[in-house]
Amino acid sequence: MHTKSALLTTLASFALTAVLLGGCGKPGDKSAASSSQTPNRQFVIGMSQCNLGEPWRVQMNADIAAAAAKHAELKMIFKDAQNDTLQQRAEIEEFVSAKVDLIIISPKEAQPLTEPVAHAMEAGIPVIVLDRRLLGTNYTCFIGADNKKIGKAAGEWIVKTLGGKGNVVELMGLQTSTPGQDRHSGFLEGIAGSEVQVVFRADMRWLEPNARQEMESALSRFDKIDLVYAHNDPGAHGAYLAAKAAGREKQMKFVGIDALKQEGIAYVQQGILDATFQYPTGGAEAIDTALKILHGEKVPGEITLGTRRFEKENVAQGGVELK
Ligand code: FRU
Repeated sequence: MHTKSALLTTLASFALTAVLLGGCGKPGDKSAASSSQTPNRQFVIGMSQCNLGEPWRVQMNADIAAAAAKHAELKMIFKDAQNDTLQQRAEIEEFVSAKVDLIIISPKEAQPLTEPVAHAMEAGIPVIVLDRRLLGTNYTCFIGADNKKIGKAAGEWIVKTLGGKGNVVELMGLQTSTPGQDRHSGFLEGIAGSEVQVVFRADMRWLEPNARQEMESALSRFDKIDLVYAHNDPGAHGAYLAAKAAGREKQMKFVGIDALKQEGIAYVQQGILDATFQYPTGGAEAIDTALKILHGEKVPGEITLGTRRFEKENVAQGGVELK
């Protein structure tokens, strides 16, 4: 009896050791080595996307999902605010109540999304802000390209392309979002001192149908339009369609921003746009940064992504980098 129970105890502890060893992974397995510090630790990341109605945002989510899929310890929860600020506020509060480990937000507008992000930070949840900014810097890390630089480069390219003068239509991105503000102020810097005149300016709120409608008004009011500068490629495409419907698309140039392969770059290849400036989604960088934060590493408060210019002459070579 005694010997039998001793044998059972030995067998049980042998089985337990085997389970524990199994949990540590095979020797030389790198991922097992790092997870041995926090065995079986899973991290939940809540991603709040302001809308999925635009191809650029679909691409951002795809970039995030692809990067996250390479890390078994990450579980992503995606929410789509459908371009509704109140809904996006509620989503951030839901992530806070659910106690996710980290939040990524690409906010629709700066001011109204600042407060819920502050609540998340107060609750000890790190927040990565992607692409559009909030007011102030109460977040863990901001990732995005320099919109002022892009706007300025667009302005300078336009001055050069028009030979220093001409009539321009500016179709702006949502002016309560920071890329819309910066692409406008950067552009003004870029054209300063030239004879480029902005004859018509409207907030098309990033949306192609709005851009098309605004362009119809511009066309009805001005006989001479030399160029359309739109703050994104859907906007530039909407303007092109309006000009084409009026039989005037060959009289003017079209410049956009985003340069997705399947959108802006394709438009340049097809001769619809004359130039587009790349605005990277930052999806992969957001996951890299999230992993560092979750593993207790320090990250910078701001990561600025690079950008490129694509035009007919350089599109086949992958555009040129903006210095
Ligand atoms: C998509 C979009 C992009 C633009 C970005 C700016 O919603 O409008 O076209 O580059 O947002 O935040």
